[in-house]
Amino acid sequence: MKALSLRELEATARSLLNPRIHDLFAGGSDDEVSLRANEDAFARLGLIPRVLRGRGEPRLDTDLLGCRVALPIVIAPTAFHRLAHPEGERATARAAAAAGAILTVSMASTTAIEELAQAGGPLWFQLYLQPDRGFTEALVRRVEAAGCKALVVTVDSPVFGRRERDLRNGFTDLPPGMCCENMRPLGPDGERGPARPIAFSPALTWEDVEWLRRTTSLPIALKGVLHPADAKRALESGVDALFVSNHGGRQLDTVPAPLELLPALADALGGRLPLLLDGGVRRGTDALKALALGARAVAIGRPVLWGLAVGGEAGVAHVLALLRSELERALTLCGCGSADDAGPELLHLSRLEQR
Ligand code: FNR
Repeated sequence: MKALSLRELEATARSLLNPRIHDLFAGGSDDEVSLRANEDAFARLGLIPRVLRGRGEPRLDTDLLGCRVALPIVIAPTAFHRLAHPEGERATARAAAAAGAILTVSMASTTAIEELAQAGGPLWFQLYLQPDRGFTEALVRRVEAAGCKALVVTVDSPVFGRRERDLRNGFTDLPPGMCCENMRPLGPDGERGPARPIAFSPALTWEDVEWLRRTTSLPIALKGVLHPADAKRALESGVDALFVSNHGGRQLDTVPAPLELLPALADALGGRLPLLLDGGVRRGTDALKALALGARAVAIGRPVLWGLAVGGEAGVAHVLALLRSELERALTLCGCGSADDAGPELLHLSRLEQR
């Protein structure tokens, strides 16, 4: 694998992918203001290193929702991996397992959760709460049985964001032979029915989250909580973590970059819930900045799809290896022996507020 950076890999993926599929993966909603903001926020925030601290080689391993992981970089849930590579999520799951990284399997995965569990790595499952609680509960039982270690409940999608690239390209559905495999209800003999569409509901409330809390003992992370008042409300609902995310700029447009919102959320929570951040993480220095602002881990969405498109399992392995070595180098250059050594003192914060 030749790419020296995720940006190089992205350029190669773009040249290989069908333009409609590339747009589906790369695009954001409306004017793509949030999409651009995500990467820009990292570029605007400077690092001020500490020197001569003698901390030695940095350690990246950590605990996330009860899972011991080799690095604080999680694979965010993204739909339709088989559109990027014929082996789809299977390739992603093998690369994640080999790297000791968590794969968050999307509810819109084109491979069934049971097949991904065979890769042997830690899996989380991303859920859109369905208005049909019976269906949601059956799916939760299914992912529990498959050995998933946590549920990531995406709450920023009461309706689907308007993705104008897809509208322009006429992308409406998966090609024949592919579907959202986990949306196929399992019959009593294990046979799978036809896939249901994923419902997005503006009627969901905190009561639905609390119902889920009562329904499963798996850790629950809420993905897409951005308002400090909602972060405080989340504490009462009994969830275990929050993903600070604007869905990669694909839902409400003009939402600020998660990096910019992280300090206020960390303040509101005062350490009572771990925070993960996704959106625009493309470099080890990006991950370090989020960790220094109080995130326990970051997650990556599109880079995994670019890796898949370029090299299947080896491509995803390359994405994780690049970010791992970049994060190690960034920590070392900042005089940190682990993410715990990285705090806001390393950040040139005044620049984050400037436009
Ligand atoms: C996503 N994302 C997403 N999120 C989710 O909760 N369920 C999903 O099925 C998907 N699907 C999806 C598909 C594609 C093509 C993209 C690009 C994104 C959002 C994803 O989990 C994550 O929040 C962002 O991708 C993070 O931003 P970056 O790393 O792509 O900049």
